[in-house]
Amino acid sequence: MKLLVTGGAGFIGSVVTRMLLDAGHEVVVLDDLRTGHRVAVAPDATHVVAPLDDVAQVVTPQAGFDAVLHLAALIAAGESMVRPELYWHTNVVGSLALLDAVRVAGVPKVVFSSTAAVYGNPVELPISETAITAPTNTYGATKLTVDMALTSAAAGNGLAAVSLRYFNVAGAHLGAPVPLGERHDPETHLIPIAFDVASGRREKLQLFGDDYPTVDGTCVRDYIHVTDLAHAHLLALDAAVGGQHRIYNLGNGSGFTNRQVVEVVREVTGQPVPVVVAPRRVGDPAELVAAADLARTELGWTPAKPTLHDIVSDAWAFYRDHLPERG
Ligand SMILES: NC(=O)c1ccc[n+]([C@@H]2O[C@H](COP(=O)([O-])OP(=O)(O)OC[C@H]3O[C@@H](n4cnc5c(N)ncnc54)[C@H](O)[C@@H]3O)[C@@H](O)[C@H]2O)c1
Repeated sequence: MKLLVTGGAGFIGSVVTRMLLDAGHEVVVLDDLRTGHRVAVAPDATHVVAPLDDVAQVVTPQAGFDAVLHLAALIAAGESMVRPELYWHTNVVGSLALLDAVRVAGVPKVVFSSTAAVYGNPVELPISETAITAPTNTYGATKLTVDMALTSAAAGNGLAAVSLRYFNVAGAHLGAPVPLGERHDPETHLIPIAFDVASGRREKLQLFGDDYPTVDGTCVRDYIHVTDLAHAHLLALDAAVGGQHRIYNLGNGSGFTNRQVVEVVREVTGQPVPVVVAPRRVGDPAELVAAADLARTELGWTPAKPTLHDIVSDAWAFYRDHLPERG
């Protein structure tokens, strides 16, 4: 298939691109590098350095795309609370430009990167796809809005749409030609920040809140390995059906508190990771754990690296050996 990957210079998009290419597809990456990295773009993909706003110049009727995998977005929940207009523009206006181009060009399929943040503070755990959606931050609200636009495009225009609602993504793709892992700047994710502390680049790790109603008072999250997540995109492409919007949660179904994650980072790195408790961040739900049974039964998805230890080990191998800018 000829595929467009938006956000293919980012952490997850670069791994999705790699696995699509390895499966024999032709891939065009659209990424303006606002948070991505040129080095992460697969050398055997075509890279168009352009924003989503200009996507109609790439997704034309003549271009002949068979599907779009739409990962480009701004992703920092905290930032989305202080710069909401930036998030509504990038994530929603940009996605609507993409959906317009897809409709005009007659591209039959879209696979979208949605998020557990659409559920907000869940009423029941683990969270299934039928759970109430009530985002507690602007980031989650923008993602839910795009999910709704996809539902409409499927019903109104016959689009085959799939939303994959990722829980916390970590790990790395360590294979050839270029190792791919997390290099957000500034980094807001717990595991790479804990590595900064383990390697002496930061003094202490801030834990945001220790008075949540969880076993040790810190937030609980469900971690998924980036290669397992990327594999789900390939399965979603096959499962997409015209006129339907399918939604799948992707997580491992086990929750770990922030303190438990830090403990695994200490084990894997062999280093102390001093922590300091900071106030809660606005919009952080206490606990997010996926019920991912639907992805297993309908997509045939089986994670190959479901343990937190494997996820942290691969992330550490990338951080330690392939992240010169952290040096
Ligand atoms: N990382 C996670 O744990 C996580 C969890 C849930 C959902 N997601 C979703 O997964 C997707 C990818 O996340 P990531 O961690 O790889 O983020 P990332 O920041 O590493 O990658 C995003 C990429 O999109 C590009 N981009 C952003 N806005 C753009 C625009 N308007 N035009 C062109 N390019 C643009 C950036 O340059 C970057 O390369 C996002 O849609 C995010 O919402 C991520």
